[in-house]
Amino acid sequence: MGDWIAFWDSEHSIYVNARHRDVHYRTIAQDIGARLPSGAAVLDYGCGEALHADLIAASARALILCEAAPTVRAALAARFAGQSKIKVCSPEEVAALPAGSLDVVVLHSVAQYLTPQELDALLVLFRRLLSENGILILGDVVPPDVSALTDAVALIRFGTANGFLGAALIGLLRTLVSDYWRLRFDLGLSRYGEAAMLAKLAGAGFSARRAAANIGHNQARMTFIARRA
Ligand SMILES: C[S@@+](CC[C@H](N)C(=O)[O-])C[C@H]1O[C@@H](n2cnc3c(N)ncnc32)[C@H](O)[C@@H]1O
Repeated sequence: MGDWIAFWDSEHSIYVNARHRDVHYRTIAQDIGARLPSGAAVLDYGCGEALHADLIAASARALILCEAAPTVRAALAARFAGQSKIKVCSPEEVAALPAGSLDVVVLHSVAQYLTPQELDALLVLFRRLLSENGILILGDVVPPDVSALTDAVALIRFGTANGFLGAALIGLLRTLVSDYWRLRFDLGLSRYGEAAMLAKLAGAGFSARRAAANIGHNQARMTFIARRA
């Protein structure tokens, strides 16, 4: 789904203003940080702008930020240049990492932009990279029955709670005529029910469970915690 990577690399308006962008990335970093064992070597795959990755790195031994979109990756490298624990990598560089070198892999809000075959290939990679007791955190998985309206309501609630309701409403209207909806309708999102995702993870050699809460603001979506079986 290369078109999606081009979209994320563009000047899109998914984040309705600077406040939304900041709160989005802060919430995700805090939620991920709360799930990490201390002193872990962590990979955040498809990390996006990861504005608050320093919050994840704080309790980690090392944090690798992997992003396929080249402009986003360059901005990450500039942002975290002075932070010795944080390394920014391309997908190709991550594929070349040694087996068993990671304690935690995070794939948050990425699976829906991958074909099922692309996700299978990543799960094989992650299983190879994880240490014996390592964990995979797979977040923001979109179930089949969750509509775009549900996503819009979740954004409105997030905006209300964080002081950007007006911008969220304008942003939703703007998004309706944006490339995001064209791509969402043309390419679609890859969706998985809970049982389907557990079966997919089992097929890739993981023993998994659904977490009680999703990472981030949208609780209609799901997070899974998986360990090497
Ligand atoms: C919805 S954003 C999620 C960003 C961040 N994880 C978050 O939750 O805010 C999806 C990100 O995944 C990246 N991405 C998509 N396919 C990828 C791939 N095959 N390898 C690495 N990154 C990918 C996109 O470039 C984009 O930055």
